Amino acid sequence: MKKLLHICAAMRGEKSRTLIVASAFLEKFNETHPDWTVETLDVFAEPLPEITRDVTDGKYLLMADGEISDILKPSWLEIKQHINRFLSADAYLISTPMWNFSIPYRLKHYIDVIAQPQYLFRYTAQGVDGLAKGRKMVVITSRGGDYTPESPICALDYQEPYLRTIFGFVGVTDITFINAQPMDARGREIMKEQLDAAQNRAREIAIKF
Ligand SMILES: Cc1cc2nc3c(=O)[nH]c(=O)nc-3n(C[C@H](O)[C@H](O)[C@H](O)COP(=O)(O)O)c2cc1C
Repeated sequence: MKKLLHICAAMRGEKSRTLIVASAFLEKFNETHPDWTVETLDVFAEPLPEITRDVTDGKYLLMADGEISDILKPSWLEIKQHINRFLSADAYLISTPMWNFSIPYRLKHYIDVIAQPQYLFRYTAQGVDGLAKGRKMVVITSRGGDYTPESPICALDYQEPYLRTIFGFVGVTDITFINAQPMDARGREIMKEQLDAAQNRAREIAIKF
């Protein structure tokens, strides 16, 4: 069985517009991909290890092509478990609202946990080599405002460029975004219209995935 890891950073349960779109994607995905299993990692519900001084000291050892020293190993136990879980997936779905033009802090925390040298990337004479390459990703977001290319505030979208950059850095370059927007700024009718459109797009992308 192949595995889709659903990294969920939407914390409003049934009220979440992000999760309404993600559910449309997952329903179609499950229907059309019986050979795949879906595992969910809720970054608000699951504990994430703190990035302590020991964890950071270990990271610098890895960046210098060294190994985690015995004394630092305990601090890296949970970090390695999260990395292994991330790398055990064949593809990813990220569900995240826009928070302050970017991502919720718990998703950033998760990224800080897993984006480690020798595990997710390494430096070579030719530049950075992403070690999670070959895996696809779908990112479902919802935003209060409208950040489409025609919008005067499109340059304020630090969410999509950031996620493309960090996951591209670790080798995940095949990323499709489904952005439901505007969810708050233009009233209920436009919100419903855009939410429907995002759900339809999510179903189409799930079928072709
Ligand atoms: C803490 C917080 C920060 C937010 N920051 C932004 C923002 O910078 N830009 C924006 O357009 N909407 C912002 N919003 C609105 C949400 O992106 C929007 O309501 C989204 O649909 C929420 O997703 P959800 O329904 O899945 O929780 C923010 C909401 C919260 C709770």
